[in-house]
Amino acid sequence: MSIKKVSKIQPELFEFSKENLIEVEKEINKYPKGKKASAVLSLLYLAQNQNDNWIPLAAIKYIAKLLGMSYIKVYEVVTFYSMFNLSPVGKYFVQICTTTPCMIRGANKITNICKKHISQNQNELSENKLCSWTEVECLGACVNAPMMQVNQDYFEDLDESKTEEIVLKLLSGNFPTPGSAKNRKNNAPEKGKTTLIDIKNA
Ligand code: FES
Repeated sequence: MSIKKVSKIQPELFEFSKENLIEVEKEINKYPKGKKASAVLSLLYLAQNQNDNWIPLAAIKYIAKLLGMSYIKVYEVVTFYSMFNLSPVGKYFVQICTTTPCMIRGANKITNICKKHISQNQNELSENKLCSWTEVECLGACVNAPMMQVNQDYFEDLDESKTEEIVLKLLSGNFPTPGSAKNRKNNAPEKGKTTLIDIKNA
């Protein structure tokens, strides 16, 4: 399981860009008066996107102030969700699911490949600074286990050689084609549909 690492190097200040301030207003306006704290997840997501995919402590303070929340409440939200990073991640951020179904189907082998090629420890940048990896809890694609997420895309039905191919491609600065390594469509059976075959688009 991943333990959130807080970056030792922190910017002193954080402010939303002009464009993001417009988004912030839209998000806050989605909720009734006096309930602007409900926008906390959206604002954290915007902050992370604005800051190269990680959230500095200054952004937590800034968002807490903006939403009239205590710093610790916002910090609790950030540390609860694995989607939020508290230290810099690579341009290609690999998240390996190590929950039971993926673990039974070989998640450890995927982790070992990341250790070998990206960095010995999770949450550390590769030598060329392009990649980092971490372990996460179930990513909701158990039926295609083992799997990993890279940035916004899922790579499923992995084995050692496929994972190595993907990781090496990422380290060379290229993004591989996401999806099932067995070319399954979504989570359809490996040998094609066995039910609802008469129905179009089922
Ligand atoms: S256990 Fe890995 S995606 Fe659910």
